[in-house]
Amino acid sequence: MEEQLKSIKESALSAIHGASNNQELQDIRVKFLGKKGELTALLKGLGKLSKEERPAAGAKVNEARVVLEEAISALQDKFDAAELKEKLTRERIDITLPGRAPQKGHMHPLTIVNEMIEEFFMKMGYTVEEGPEIEQDYYNFECLNLPKDHPARDMQDSFYITDNFLLRTHTSPVQARTMQAHTSNAPIRMIAPGKVYRWDYDATHSPVFHQVEGLLIDKDIKFSDLKGTLELFLKYMFGEKTKIRFRTSFFPFTEPSAEVDISCVMCGGEGCRVCSHTGWLEILGCGMVHPNVLRLNGYDPEKVQGFAFGMGVERIAMLLYGINDLRLFFEDDTRFLKQF
Ligand code: PHE
Repeated sequence: MEEQLKSIKESALSAIHGASNNQELQDIRVKFLGKKGELTALLKGLGKLSKEERPAAGAKVNEARVVLEEAISALQDKFDAAELKEKLTRERIDITLPGRAPQKGHMHPLTIVNEMIEEFFMKMGYTVEEGPEIEQDYYNFECLNLPKDHPARDMQDSFYITDNFLLRTHTSPVQARTMQAHTSNAPIRMIAPGKVYRWDYDATHSPVFHQVEGLLIDKDIKFSDLKGTLELFLKYMFGEKTKIRFRTSFFPFTEPSAEVDISCVMCGGEGCRVCSHTGWLEILGCGMVHPNVLRLNGYDPEKVQGFAFGMGVERIAMLLYGINDLRLFFEDDTRFLKQF
């Protein structure tokens, strides 16, 4: 019996020390100390011994059991510690990694250009005015010297809602509204940015597009004031080297009227495909406020004069950024929008 105990103990101990993880230890515990384990069997066999021998033999088996239990639990602690350490290294957070910033939105190219234009004119003392996009025929045309059936209405293909209401074809009605609402003697200096609508659709025209129009009314206003203002503005937008040219033109609400060109942003005036080899790009329309328009909106052309101008925001953005299709602005393709 003693021999047997000794050999069980030795083989158990050597198995324990040979174990390499908690699972193996668990198997060893079952093998020797479990219900059907070898040491348990030995304990059960004690019944066969005489009454005198039993206590001492029982004590020895229990002593061996304690030794084995302790050896197992000591090793178990060691394995637990190693496992924890390994887990801590594996799951360590690298606090030096840069964080994941949430994706920030940014401004649409048309908003950027719009804000550039507003910034320039606000610095020049202009106010920024707004008006309705569904406009009365009266403000959109009539009080701008474009009576019903006037042939010049054909310059702006319109979306009518009723005979008297339409989607505004330009932001000039905001100028008429501002003139009529203006009761003080102070000069008017305003710009009107906003969406306008025309029955057009191709690479350079969209049924909805953006304009900024401007109006100045004061005493002794001359064409040279208009010229100087636009020259400063266009150099601010396209750079100091930009050359500016005025060409006579026709608008029903201005007299004289002019179309303004800038030297080509691509070739600098040498001539290229973008400027159709002319060296010039048309950029806006302008003129001195027609005396009829002054009268129709409550002003005496003998006492005050004014100038007005209007430009398409998409066209300016296309020239500034080298974009060749206006429809890109409205397609919301992030591959396009991300570039600004
Ligand atoms: N309203 C004109 C247009 O949309 C532009 C313009 C404004 C021209 C003011 C002259 C003066 O075409």
